[in-house]
Amino acid sequence: MRKLMPLMLCSTLLFAACSPDTSIDINAPQETGISFTVPQGWPQPVYNFENNALNQAGFELGRKLFYDTRFSRDNTISCGSCHQAGAAFAHSEHSISHGVDGLVGTRNSPTLFNLNWHKGFFWDGGVNHIESQPINPIQNPVEMDETVPNVIAKIKDDADYKRMFSAAWGDELMNSQRIFKSLAQFMGAMVSDNSKYDKYKRGEAALTDTELSGMSVYQNNCAACHTAPLFSDFSYRNNGLPPTSVNDSGRGHITFLAQDMYKFKVPSLRNLKYSAPYMHDGRFKTLEQVLAHYSTGIHRSPTLDPILLNGIQLSAQQQSDLLEFLNTLNDESFISDVRFHENAQ
Ligand code: HEC
Ligand code: HEC
Repeated sequence: MRKLMPLMLCSTLLFAACSPDTSIDINAPQETGISFTVPQGWPQPVYNFENNALNQAGFELGRKLFYDTRFSRDNTISCGSCHQAGAAFAHSEHSISHGVDGLVGTRNSPTLFNLNWHKGFFWDGGVNHIESQPINPIQNPVEMDETVPNVIAKIKDDADYKRMFSAAWGDELMNSQRIFKSLAQFMGAMVSDNSKYDKYKRGEAALTDTELSGMSVYQNNCAACHTAPLFSDFSYRNNGLPPTSVNDSGRGHITFLAQDMYKFKVPSLRNLKYSAPYMHDGRFKTLEQVLAHYSTGIHRSPTLDPILLNGIQLSAQQQSDLLEFLNTLNDESFISDVRFHENAQ
């Protein structure tokens, strides 16, 4: 029996280097490793890296691809140009994002975290799988305006990529499937679950009286759509934003159904401190403006969510308590997690 033990350990620790003479300390702390676990009390994710096993080499390749400007026609724009770590992977201070040649799109760059729980991608759910999503920004003429074959032609002789594709996928072959799966490993591993609110839920921190009172304002007025713990139910809804000249019909643009006109995916309320401006077109710079919208700015239209027919009226006290509660949803440790940064070691 004693002789069998190291062998059994070897087969369980699939990727660990194994030699019969070395004893493995399975309790040794993981330093910079990457892994994915469903946080306690959260629902099962939609995407669980099935058919795309998350591993260090795949994640690191995904990170290099994410920050590579060669994904754009003129080699100036990377995914990370519009999805910046310090902005919870939204585009800092840009209401709508700029792509190649300074061309502007029509929508605000969304935050990227807890993506594995999303049922659909983009503000209108136009893409339904995290692994097929990157084709859109790459080919979009006002974003990267490039093609995957061109990208591969640009990176195929890069020695770092040759090494990294081999490490992640077994050989140097670079194809779109490997690129997209690697990007999905990098983005899917971005889990934000360490805000003060999360610590409170785990019994590791206490909320102040103000924060607790703000939490009940949230529960009574916001939770139906911005549902905890992800702070979105990932449905598509019309929250009463007055139309602009762009006339973005949102979900209706995808389904062509009258009942989906002007509906957009409910965004998370996590990490709002970093991700201003807000809404699908970045029309609000501050959370005070967002609350003013819900109280006096609701535009009535046939698809307006019935919950918002009369807006959300809050006293000054309730508003400031709510803002304090929203502040507990900011996850500094996610923002400063170097594993997701461009120059991570
Ligand atoms: C020019 C700016 C820009 C670039 C470059 C860009 N994105 Fe985006 N990204 C956006 C915008 C804007 C949206 C929202 C699009 C929409 O709703 O129609 C978006 C949406 C997304 C989403 C969906 C998030 C959600 O909540 O549904 C993901 C994931 C994403 N981008 C990843 C990437 C990746 C990977 C790359 C590089 C291959 C990339 N982006 C390049 C601006 C950009
Ligand atoms: C009926 C559903 C619903 C309710 C109730 C609701 N929201 Fe929203 N919220 C949405 C939708 C949908 C959007 C996205 C709208 C868009 O961009 O077109 C949104 C967007 C937001 C945003 C912008 C986030 C970002 O990343 O751009 C914030 C902040 C926000 N809501 C806060 C709140 C607060 C605070 C409450 C409660 C006082 C609340 N919402 C109540 C549906 C709702």
